[in-house]
Amino acid sequence: MQADLERILIPRAAIARRVHELAGEIARTYEGGEGDGLTLVTILSGSLIFLADLIRELPLRMKIGLITVSSYRGATTESKGSIILHELKVDVAGRHVLLIDDILDTGGTLRMVRERLAGSGALSIRTCVLLRKPSKAPPDLVADFVGFDIEDVFVVGYGLDYNDLYRNFPDIGVLRKELYTS
Ligand code: IMP
Ligand code: MG
Repeated sequence: MQADLERILIPRAAIARRVHELAGEIARTYEGGEGDGLTLVTILSGSLIFLADLIRELPLRMKIGLITVSSYRGATTESKGSIILHELKVDVAGRHVLLIDDILDTGGTLRMVRERLAGSGALSIRTCVLLRKPSKAPPDLVADFVGFDIEDVFVVGYGLDYNDLYRNFPDIGVLRKELYTS
């Protein structure tokens, strides 16, 4: 697996440190009155490892909701729009929602899920992404919590995939260019 990477961008220890810090930022935001009725709506599949690590650092009473979205990449790294594969099954009416995604790239995925939630009666909607590519993320789509800003390279590992591969790699690495078509 490692042979398919050009280089490691964020080693596992740095990810763990930052997830711990992020959890502190999130806990401070919600520990007041908003702590009651928090639902973490997580966009799968890319966020599965991030979610698992983050929630175990968050000493808040929360529900977890899952929604599976495909950004249609398949055997390419280019986004062709986002489609929902599995709908959110939890009711977020009257709840504070923290939307979790692995990476904010063109912003299409977060925008789509946010818009769906907007009509759901949620009391507030904030967003948390592990990674953001600032050169591509649209300026109007602001994430409230960001793990790392990264350059515009295609990364895999720690849940992120290429064609559903590499999710189990513990570090975040840059995929070798000859392995994909963009
Ligand atoms: P967006 O809709 O373009 O913002 O893309 C968001 C989704 O595309 C993320 O949830 C990821 O699943 C996927 N994605 C975007 N960039 C990368 C990357 O560099 N590596 C792996 N997946 C990515
Ligand atoms: Mg994703």
